[in-house]
Formats: sequence, C-alpha cells, structure tokens
Amino acid sequence: MLNKIAIIGGGNIGGVLVQELVQRRLAKNVALVDVKGPDLSKGKALDIAEGSPVIGCDIRVEGSKEYAVIEGADLIINTAGVPRTPKPDGTLPTREELLATNLKITDAVSEGIGKFAPKAKIISIANPLDAIVYRLYMNLGTPREHLMGMAGVLDSARYRYFIAEEAGVSVENVEAMVLGGHGDTMIPIRSACRVAGMPVEKFIAADKLEAIENRTRNAGGEVVKLLGVGSAFVSPAWSALQMVEAIIFDKKKILAVSALLKGEYGVDGLFVGVPAVIGKNGVEKIIEMDLTAAEKAAFAVSIDAVKKTADEVIAMTK
Ligand code: APR
Repeated sequence: MLNKIAIIGGGNIGGVLVQELVQRRLAKNVALVDVKGPDLSKGKALDIAEGSPVIGCDIRVEGSKEYAVIEGADLIINTAGVPRTPKPDGTLPTREELLATNLKITDAVSEGIGKFAPKAKIISIANPLDAIVYRLYMNLGTPREHLMGMAGVLDSARYRYFIAEEAGVSVENVEAMVLGGHGDTMIPIRSACRVAGMPVEKFIAADKLEAIENRTRNAGGEVVKLLGVGSAFVSPAWSALQMVEAIIFDKKKILAVSALLKGEYGVDGLFVGVPAVIGKNGVEKIIEMDLTAAEKAAFAVSIDAVKKTADEVIAMTK
C-alpha cells in the first residue's frame, strides 16, 4: 500500500481508476484532479468516499479542480486530455489541432506535477500516447525508471483475448506481447505468443492469426465505433492498474510499457513500447526480445512513426 496515489483527469478512465484503487486498497490516500466544472473530480471523489463505509474501507479520497490536491503523491496516473469531438462550426479538429490541444493540457499537467509531486513515478495513459509521454519527459526530465506510458499492456490484453476466443481456451493460458508505438504500427509479436507454453500456430491457422493481429491494431477504434461517444475506459484502467500493482508489490513483472530507450533495440531518446521489468523502482530493466526478420522490419516502421510524432511534439514547443 502506498501513502498516496493521484489521478490526473477524472473522466471515464480516471473514474474507474479511483474506484479500483479504493476497492483494491492500493493507497492510504487517493487524489483526483480535473478542471471540468462545476467540480467533476470533487463529485466523483465524494461519491466514492460516501460509499466507503459500505465496503469497510478507510482510504481517504479527495477530488479538486486545483492541482494542490496531488501534493506529495508517490505515484501519478495521467489521463488528462480531450477526445476528437466536433468544433463549434461542426467540423472535426485535424490531427495536428488535436495534438496541439492535448500538448497544451500536458503542459498544464506537467506544471502541476512539477509543483506538487516532482518525485512521483508517473504512468501516463492519455492519447496520443507516445506524444504525451514524450512531452511529459521534455517538461519534467523525469528519470526513465519513473516515467512510463500505458499502452502495451492493453494492446497485449486485446491480442490475448482474441487468441483465447479463437483457440477456445482460457485467457489465462495465453501469453503475448504487443510492442512498438501505440497506433496503426504496433506489432503483435506472434513469435512470442504462447498458448499454455506452446506456439500459438499449433492452435490457430496463419490466416486467422493475421486477421486477429489486424483486429488488435484497430481494437481501440472498434470500441469507439460501438460506444458512439468516448473510447474504451475499463480495460485501459485495469491495464494501468496491473502496472501500479507491479510497482507497489515489487513484482518484477515483465510488461509491455512505453519506456525511454537508451540504445536498446538500436533506438536512442524515444519512448517506445517494449517489454520491461516493472518493480518498486518503476522501469527496472528493458528486455530486448529476439524478433524474426519480419518483426524487426515492422518494428523499424513503428520506430519511424514514433520518431515523426516526437519531431512534431518538438516542433510544437514554443
Ligand atoms: N487537468 C486535469 N484534467 C484535465 C485537464 C487538465 N488540464 N484537461 C482536461 N482534463 C480532463 C477532462 O476534463 C476530462 O474529464 O481529462 C478528462 C479526460 O476524460 P475523458 O474525456 O472521459 O477521457 P477518458 O476516456 O478518461 O480517456 C482519457 O486516455 O485512453 C486515453 O484517448 C484517451 O486521451 C484519452 C485519455
């Protein structure tokens, strides 16, 4: 149990996170900050606090529009951002406009963290994932052990779920990793996918596997289309919580996370989804996987996409 965990952004994902942190009793204090009025995060925190006697839980939950509420947090989960919604004139913002808006939000988030919890470990979930984590790093200079993006755990969970469904086996039997940037270029690593320790090809034909891998790459969009409003929020929250628990319980669990590479995989200075040992010190070790030639080629394409986004983030810096 940590002393304090803070959630930035009290929307759909932030709401599930606070609820789960309390139910799983992962910190003595849980703080939620959101700028949305009249006071969204205060309302969500009060709702959960008022339910705490029912579940017999003495965790202190506090919400506020002011970043001071996150003061002294040991761990921060960042979900602050705006989704792609129509502008007042009815047109959709371009990708660049959306990126610019979300970078501005990230600058406000960075200011809050820098002022009130500069030593906290940070797990960032907000999209565009790679751009936001990179901007947090630019703004805060957080050591690489303490700053990670959550995407790979969710992308891997989606891949595992689709494999389990197709093979007709328990999700617990499926082990898989999805690496690279969080977007169209992510790479489900088929060569490392195992069903009860056996190669996945023993259970699923190549054409079906290819379809599953495509579905994995587009899984976020599939949920967005079905929901009509907003994007997936329970599975991303649970995925971030797997990282939180790996840190709190010092599990040394190998998870796919977006981490700053310093020469690993031949990449320097970019946040990329790779397997890493997650424990009480955060990202404790990056694991370099043996990839097939095709996977290596796909990884290079993904790195190019991540680099392009990082360059855009730098170009959008005042
Ligand atoms: N400080 C704090 N919170 C902010 C700020 C800010 N400067 N700017 C915006 N927010 C809040 C919004 O008010 C909103 O309540 O961030 C919250 C985001 O919540 P949702 O819109 O419900 O989005 P959610 O589904 O939770 O997803 C959050 O994670 O997976 C990604 O693409 C997703 O970027 C999105 C993020």
